[in-house]
Amino acid sequence: MENWKFYTPDGVQDTLFTECEMKRNIEHNFRMHFRSAGYREVETPTLEYFDVFSSGTGRIEQEMMYKFSDKDGRLLVLRPDLTIPAVRLYSTKIKNKEQPVKMFYIGNTFRSKEQGGGRFKEFTQAGAEIIGNSGATVDAEIISRAISMAKLAGLEDFLIDIGHVEFFKAIIEEAGFSENEGEEIRALVDCKDFTRLESLLNEKNLSADLHNLILSLPSLFGDVDILDKAEKFTENIRAVKAIEYLREVLAILTQKGFRNYVSIDLGLVSSLNYYTGIIFKGFTYGIGFPIISGGRYDTLVETYGEKACASGFSIGINMLMQALSSQKSSDNNEKYLNVALSKGRLASLAMDLFGNAGIDISELKDESTRKLIITDEVSKVRFFLVKPSDVPTYVEYGAADIGVVGRDTILEEGKNLYEVLDLGFGKCRMCVAGPKELYGNLDLIPNKRVATKYPNIAREYYEHTKLESVEIIKLNGSVELAPLVGLSEVIVDIVESGRTLKENGLDVLETIADLSARMVVNRVSMKIERTRITKIIDSIREQLQEKKEK
Ligand code: PRP
Repeated sequence: MENWKFYTPDGVQDTLFTECEMKRNIEHNFRMHFRSAGYREVETPTLEYFDVFSSGTGRIEQEMMYKFSDKDGRLLVLRPDLTIPAVRLYSTKIKNKEQPVKMFYIGNTFRSKEQGGGRFKEFTQAGAEIIGNSGATVDAEIISRAISMAKLAGLEDFLIDIGHVEFFKAIIEEAGFSENEGEEIRALVDCKDFTRLESLLNEKNLSADLHNLILSLPSLFGDVDILDKAEKFTENIRAVKAIEYLREVLAILTQKGFRNYVSIDLGLVSSLNYYTGIIFKGFTYGIGFPIISGGRYDTLVETYGEKACASGFSIGINMLMQALSSQKSSDNNEKYLNVALSKGRLASLAMDLFGNAGIDISELKDESTRKLIITDEVSKVRFFLVKPSDVPTYVEYGAADIGVVGRDTILEEGKNLYEVLDLGFGKCRMCVAGPKELYGNLDLIPNKRVATKYPNIAREYYEHTKLESVEIIKLNGSVELAPLVGLSEVIVDIVESGRTLKENGLDVLETIADLSARMVVNRVSMKIERTRITKIIDSIREQLQEKKEK
C-alpha cells in the first residue's frame, strides 16, 4: 500500500501564513460588517444527516456529497451547502421569533463532485439569510449586502447578474413542456447552446412568438434595456410581473449607488432548484466561475416545518482571494481577449473566421513560428494553439475567454462552458463501428468490449441510451485496429469520410451524435467582456449565414 502521509487529498489545501492572515482578516471584516447591519451569527455542524439535503425543494444531488454512516447505521454527510442547515436551524431551533430573522454564517462546505475550473472540494463561504420577509426591498438589501462584502474585501471590478426564475418557468409552462422537457431546455439555456436549443424547439409545435422567445433566452442578458426588449416579446402575465419586479429591485440598487455593479440575465437558471424568485450570481476577472450566488427561496423553509419566505446569498472566500491575487498580478496588464484554438484539422478554418472578424491573424497563419502566444495588439486579442482536448480546459479555467474545438472533445471532456456557435466545419459523426456481420446483431453479444479514444462518450452512450454494461478499453489512436485483432468486438469513434472503416472491412453499426466545430466561451468572460465577445460572435454568425446563403 502506498504511503500518503505527505499529501493532502485532491481538491483540498493547506493555507500558509500570509494567506491565512489575509483570510482571517476578510472573515473578521465580514463578521463586523454583518453585525453592524443587524445580522446575527449562527454556526451549524459540519456533519449533518443525509436527509437534511435529500428532501423537498432543496434536494442536492447525492453524488455531490461526502457520505458516512453513524453507529446506528444512519447516513451522515459533510454539509454541501450552508443555506439549507441555516433554514433547518431556523425552523427547528429558533423559538418565539420576531420576524424577520436576519442571520449570517461563515463556515466550510464540502462537495465531492465540484465541477472543474479549479474549484475546491472544501471551501469557505460567508453568507446571510433574511427569513420571514418578502418584497423587492428585502431582495435589494440581500444583493447590496453581497456587493458591499465584495467591495469590503477589496474587489472593485465585478458584476452581479440578476435574473428571475419565474420568467423562465412561466414561459416553459405556457409552451406546455413536461418537467423533463423543461429541464432539458434549462440545461441548454444554461450553457447558451443556441444550436441544440433551436433543433429541440423545431421538433415542437410552438407559435412563432413563443419559439422565438425561448430561443432568445440565452441572449437576454446585458444592460437594463434587456428588460424592455424582453417585455416586447411576451404578454405572459407571470413573465411580465417578473420583469416589473426586477425593475423595482434595480431602482432600489440604483438609489443605493450600486447601479454600476449590476446587470440582467433572464436566461440565468440555477441547478439548485430551491430558488423561487429573484436569482443572482457575481462574477469577476481572474476566476472562471461565479464567486457570489443567491436569490429568493420561498418554499424551502416549509420542508423543515414552518412556512416562511426567505432570501439570501453566499460569497466564496477562497475564490474571492484567488480573484484578488490574480487581479493584483495582472494589474498593469491591459485586458486581452484570449482565444484557444485546436491545433490540427480545424485550426486554419477557425483562424479565417477571426480574420474576417477584423482581427489580424497574419502571424498566426505563419506555420514556421514556434511562438505559443500570438497577439494582435490593435484589437487586443491573443491566440494560443493547443491540443484539441486541452481547449475546453483552458476555457473552463478562464485562461482563455473563447475556444474553438470539435463537439467530440466538448462531449468527452464534459466541461462547464457556454457553447455559443456551431461553426459548420469539421463535420463528422460519433459512431459505434465494427465488422459488417454485426449489423443488426449487436444486441446479441453480451458483455461487449468497446475500444475507443472517447471513454466518457462511450460510457454515457451505453449506460444511459443503451442501458447496457460493456467493457470500455481506452486507446489513443488507430482504434479501428482493435476489432481486427480481437481486442474488442466494436469501437466508438469518429467517422468523417468513412474511408478508414471501409478500407479495413468495418462499417458504421450505430450513430451516437452528429459533430462539428463549436465556439465555446468561458461563463465569466461572457458577462464581463460581453461587448467584445458578442461583437466577435455576431461577426462570425454573419459570416456563417452568408456562407449558407451562397
Ligand atoms: C480519426 C478517427 C478515425 C478517422 C476517421 O482518426 O479516429 O480513425 O479519423 O476518418 P475517416 O472517416 O475520414 O476515415 P485520426 O486521423 O485523428 O487518427 P488516430 O486514429 O491515430 O487518432
